[in-house]
Formats: sequence, structure tokens, C-alpha cells
Amino acid sequence: MNNREFWRHAAANIHWYQAPDTVLDEENPPFYRWFSDGSTNACYNALDLHVEQGRGDQAALIYDSPITATKRQYSYNELLDEVSQFAGVLAAQGVEKGDRVIVYMPMVPEALIAMLACARLGAVHSVVFGGFASNELAVRIDDASPKVIVSATCGVEPARVVPYKPLLDAAIDLAKHKPCACIILRRPMQDASMISGRDLDWAEAMADAQPVPCVPVAANDPLYILYTSGTTGQPKGVVRDTGGSIVALKWSMKNIYNVAPGDVYWAASDVGWVVGHSYIVYGPLFAGCTTVIYEGKPVGTPDPGAFWRVIAEHKVNVMFTAPTAFRAIKKEDPQGKLLQQYDTSCLESLFLAGERCDPNTLAWAEDKLGVPVIDHWWQTETGWPICSNCLGIELLPIVPGSPARAVPGYDVQVLNEQGEQVAAGDIGALVIKQPLPPGTFTTLWNAEDRYISAYFSRYPGYYETGDAGYIDENGYIFVMARTDDVINVAGHRFSTGAMEEVLADHPDVAECAVVGVADPMKGQLPLGLLVLNADVDRPLEDIVAESIQLMRDKIGPVAAFKLCAVVERLPKTRSGKILRGTMRNIADGERWKMPATIDDPIILDEISSALQTLGYANQAR
Ligand code: COA
Ligand code: AMP
Repeated sequence: MNNREFWRHAAANIHWYQAPDTVLDEENPPFYRWFSDGSTNACYNALDLHVEQGRGDQAALIYDSPITATKRQYSYNELLDEVSQFAGVLAAQGVEKGDRVIVYMPMVPEALIAMLACARLGAVHSVVFGGFASNELAVRIDDASPKVIVSATCGVEPARVVPYKPLLDAAIDLAKHKPCACIILRRPMQDASMISGRDLDWAEAMADAQPVPCVPVAANDPLYILYTSGTTGQPKGVVRDTGGSIVALKWSMKNIYNVAPGDVYWAASDVGWVVGHSYIVYGPLFAGCTTVIYEGKPVGTPDPGAFWRVIAEHKVNVMFTAPTAFRAIKKEDPQGKLLQQYDTSCLESLFLAGERCDPNTLAWAEDKLGVPVIDHWWQTETGWPICSNCLGIELLPIVPGSPARAVPGYDVQVLNEQGEQVAAGDIGALVIKQPLPPGTFTTLWNAEDRYISAYFSRYPGYYETGDAGYIDENGYIFVMARTDDVINVAGHRFSTGAMEEVLADHPDVAECAVVGVADPMKGQLPLGLLVLNADVDRPLEDIVAESIQLMRDKIGPVAAFKLCAVVERLPKTRSGKILRGTMRNIADGERWKMPATIDDPIILDEISSALQTLGYANQAR
């Protein structure tokens, strides 16, 4: 079966108001269009369809929040009612097809309800992760220009309640664009002052609303915008279309994750990330599964047995999380003693993604859970896995360190600097031959030129993933490192360039560099080095503390920026390029070579001692 027949066949498995005749429109590369003459609705496919097909009484959503001691369950009937009603709330605020709605919420069912309500109306949601600070939210408000923002009074973290409303108010103050209305979910643990004429109480608005039906949209109409880190402070607004997403995600649920309608699928992530979009909200519901919204952590809520409890209590069949979560559990309960308190025999497989999965973590999870542990590789841009062991097709031998082979629809290759394919086992840029399959990003919001320049210009005819790696002689792909300045902190993606922009804003900082250094639990942590202006005569500790606070205020606590030191100078090449890679190698205690192009070799000794004071080992050249 060729690529088109393959996807025509997969597309027959979803609900269309108007089934597409055209499978792939190749008129305007790299803007390929899948199912361009089809018309559908994502909410219809997620909810209405299952109710019509007799699944109305089945659990659609389980909310489990150890952090607030709350559990709640919604059947497909109930979730459809809530979503239709909330779509009525949005419609009453003038939200129509194509309008943008920002969702800035913690892990509560209402976040998912708001997303699906947007989809019901054909409006475009843009979820902003709750751990982001006002400044990041403001940048997204200005780019997406939402008619409405949906938020909550707070999020709850193990050590504190995080008031969201003041962050939202500050973001709207900072932004040039102003929404017409904000709908605020008032949570019992935190109230907030409401701005008259702009803010509406979720519960009151729901009580007054009329449910609305689904609005058919063109397959290529955007379902959502999700911002992700680029190389600058301006994030990239990844745009996902509607038809391709439904087809690809539904296909992936059966063929990659091997779940059937009625199965319980749990992605322990956050709706603010792509994993949450694809595998907390849309994928499981398109497939008629029960999805779990977990508001808690792998450890500390209350203990490292939390994941096992959720699996056992809700009879989870397939789980998905980031390796960092398992590293956190392993650190606190290395023998997996708490696992013995729970019956996790319902679990069929565990999928890990979001960062490189180290073989130790994989082996530990396999040993303790006794199920296949599947490392799979994908990105915000692709929206669903590029490489995976596809359990619904065939379980291939698991090779630790590799997310297995390319998933059907992706032609993954490794190219050298000249754009030529390399031999098996040789490292190079991981690229995907165009066209990308359905469900991958169709453009960047407000930035078509950047879509081309950032992803499609370096290797003509290919999508540049930004990852480097190799393919072995058996077709197994190994993803080794990023080729850009993106770092991965606890499975969350950040740009060191954006972090440098924040530090450079400190009035005493003349120059700075941020590098990602290895961390045994979070994979990587950002580490900042500051060169101060010549006239600064304040305590250095104050400047370091202010810089750390600045990062929390501008990007958010989730960036986990706590390592920072002042240095005399930064190491540079003679042409002025900062040697970030060498600094990273020194910090990680890896062997490093004195770069031939370095301006002044002595500086590296100064950097080594600064890194040592932060607790980072260094090793002789
Ligand atoms: N709202 C507000 N603040 C948030 C937040 C949110 N939604 N999410 C995280 N934060 C804050 C935390 O409170 C913490 O703040 P602190 O510096 O004041 O302690 C900071 O951001 C870092 O949070 P986190 O990344 O959760 O680190 P942690 O040290 O608290 O926990 C792990 C470490 C490994 C347990 C945690 O990162 C985790 O559960 N990771 C799972 C991976 C994951 O979900 N990845 C998503 C892609 S699959
Ligand atoms: P995000 O867009 O936040 O999902 O981050 C995507 C990036 O995370 C990828 O480009 C990789 O660098 C990294 N990543 C995700 N999954 C894996 C994996 N299984 N192995 C190695 N790196 C991964």
C-alpha cells in the first residue's frame, strides 16, 4: 500500500461531514495539505460519535488529584453535556469558528472541557502551561490574539498554592492585545478578585449557558496552536490542523499504543504540553478510551507509590510519561517496595518520551513493572510519534537507548553537513523526508517564513528535526542530542537562547551564556554564567540571586534555573562565538579538547573553577 492509500484507509476510520476525495495536496511544498476537501469536527469525533455508538455510559475521563484530595469521573454522556454547555459559554462571549481562545489552567477536567468546547465551535485553542510566568503568557496573548482567556484561580504544587489569577492579570497588563473576556474557574483553595466587565465566573456562566452543537470545519482548519521553544525569546506557535490530527491520533492509539475502545489510557503529563494535547485529551477520546487527568507528581503526592496507586485504582492498561518521572521514583524507592502494595496486573505497557531514555531507567521500569517499556521519540512539531515500537502491529525486540524504528508515515534519514545520507551507524542530522504525515504541524502561527527557514531550508526536501543521531543496520534509530540550543529539563523543552535574553536584561549583566548541563534526575538543568559590567560593586551573590528570581518571573519556576555564577569572561573563538559546547563538556565532567580556535585558553580554567563552585565536576583535558 502506498502512502496515500495508507492514509486514505486510516481516514475512513473517523467521522467526516464531508469525506475527503483528495488525500494529499502537494501544490505548495512545504505546506502539504492532507484531506484538504474534507470537513469534520474534533469534538464530534472525541465525544458525540461515541455517545451515538453506545458508549455514553462508559467513563470518558477520570480526574485523580492527590494534591487536592479529589477524585471525579465523567461518562461520555456527562462529558459531552459539560463540553456542549461550555461551548455555549464561549459562544455567548462571541467566540466563533477561527477565533482563538487561550487556556491557562492547572490539571483539572475543566482544562480539557475548555479545549474540547473550542473544538466544538471550530475555535482555535492555545493552551499555555500553568508553570509559565506572566511574561511568557503575555507573549502568547500577543501572538495568538485570543478573544477569550479561560483560566483558574490557582494551580496546586506540593509545597504551595500558585495563584494564577494575578499572573493572568499581569500578563494581560503586559500584552498589547486585550481579550474581550476571561472565564475563571474558582477553586476552593484560592479565590481571586474579578475584574468587572471582563471576568466571568466559570460556574455562573455555565449555569446561564445553552448547549451548542458541533460546527463542521474544513480538515485543514486549525485545531490548536501550541507554543514551543525556538531559538529566541519569541516562541514558535505550532499549528495543528483538524482532519490530519484526528486521523493520525486515532491511528496511533490502535497501532502504536495497542489500545481498544473501553481501555484506560493514562498519560502522566500536563495539558500544557504536546503530550497532554495528543494523549491526555484527543488521542484517548478519539479512540473511545477512558483518559486520566492526574493532578499530582510521581513523588511527594504523597509518596513514590503514587503512580502505582493510580494504575491499580483506575485499572490503567497503558501508561505514558517522561523518563524523568521514573528517575524520581527510582531515587526515592530504588527497590520499588511501594509497588508491592498495589495490584498493577492491569498494566500492559509503559511508554516513555519527551527526552532521551537512559538504559538504566528503562531496565528498572521493565524489571519492576514486568511489562514492555517502550521508548518513543517525537516532538511538539510532529504531534505524535516519529519512532516507536508499534505494539498494535508487532512488538520488535527492545534495544535500550533506541526508540526503535520509524513509525509508518515517517521516512527518517540521517544526513551529513553536505546534506548527503550517511552510512548505517554514522551520526548526523535526523531529518524526515517530506511530506510529513497527517497530524504533524502545518505551519507556525503568524510566521510562515519562520516555518520554512527553521525547518525546511537547511536540507531541501526534508524536515529538520533539530535532533542528531544515527540509524543502525537494523533500522533502529538512536536520538543522541539536539543540534540547536534547545535543552530538555524534566521532559520540558526550553531554549537557552531565550534564557540568555532574560539574563541579559539584568542591569548589571554585560554578557551571559546559558548551557544545559547533565542532571541525574531531570536529564538536563540550565546553568547560567554572567559577566558583569565593569562598574558593578555590589555583592555578587545578590546579582546571582536576582538573576535566578528574574528567570522565575520571566519564564517561570518550571525552567528550574538555580545554577548561576559570575565569571570574569566567557570563552570565545577568535571570531567571537561563545564556546557553549566546551563549557557544557567541562560541567558534565566529560573529556574535552582545547578548541583550536579559542581566543584565550586561560579562560577555560576560570570557567572550570566557577563550575566547580556550583558542584559541577570537571576533568582534565
Ligand atoms: N504551575 C506552577 N508551577 C509549576 C507547575 C505548574 N503547573 N509545574 C511545575 N511548577 C513549578 C514547581 O512547583 C517547581 O517550583 P519550585 O522551583 O518552586 O520548586 C518548578 O516549577 C519545577 O517543577 P518540576 O519540573 O515539576 O520539578 P520538581 O522538582 O518539582 O519535580 C519531577 C521533578 C521529575 C517529579 C517532575 O518534573 C515531574 O513530575 N516530571 C514529569 C515529567 C513530565 O510531566 N513531563 C512532561 C512531558 S511528557
Ligand atoms: P517536545 O517538543 O517538548 O516534545 O521536545 C521534543 C524533543 O525532546 C525532541 O526533539 C528530542 O530532543 C527530545 N525527545 C523527545 N523524545 C525523545 C526520545 N524518546 N529520545 C530522545 N530524545 C527525545
